[in-house]
Amino acid sequence: MEDLNGRHGLNPPHSEIVQACRIIEPCDVLDMGCSSGRNALYLSQLGFKVTAIDANPQAIAMLQSIVDQEGIRTIAPQVYDIQQASLDADYGFIACTVTLMFIDPARVDAVLSDMQQRTLPGGYNLIVCAMDTAEYPCPINFPFTFRPGELSAHYQGWELVNYNEDLGTMHNGAQLQFATLLARKPG
Ligand SMILES: C[S@@+](CC[C@H](N)C(=O)[O-])C[C@H]1O[C@@H](n2cnc3c(N)ncnc32)[C@H](O)[C@@H]1O
Repeated sequence: MEDLNGRHGLNPPHSEIVQACRIIEPCDVLDMGCSSGRNALYLSQLGFKVTAIDANPQAIAMLQSIVDQEGIRTIAPQVYDIQQASLDADYGFIACTVTLMFIDPARVDAVLSDMQQRTLPGGYNLIVCAMDTAEYPCPINFPFTFRPGELSAHYQGWELVNYNEDLGTMHNGAQLQFATLLARKPG
């Protein structure tokens, strides 16, 4: 695969996106909190049709510039605040990696519910989000963090293809637990 990310100074895709794409066939995918598009570019190269949304207009402008330079027709970058929880299309795959922790805690239930409703039967949700636990208090003052078991509880009735609350390390070396979920909606 051509190193589009490297060519445009972006990091490689999130490792959980790479793992998920080993089992998810190309389909319409929503990348929630896409930033400058490291995951969107990868998904597009695999044949997914990507809607890439972020609240930061500069990040979306950068992704749009990459899309224009490369002549990519399968990524649609859009400025959108996921806290609105009013998605207007259905997807086979919705990914939200390291983004939920930046939103208002009062909107988390609505955002998750909207993601689930907008996932096609048999489709997938991928979420990676910071946690705050007694064993590993979150060292970063994120607006929102999950408690143990909280994210999986939201996905009762879905198949948990992968779920863990493993210890991870931020770019600055800070250690914290992350809730990582790949779940499949009943068909
Ligand atoms: C740490 S980055 C993660 C980017 C990407 N998902 C990844 O895996 O590299 C978090 C992103 O979430 C975006 N974000 C934060 N709050 C948001 C909101 N309410 N709606 C949409 N995007 C948001 C930020 O602008 C930022 O680009």
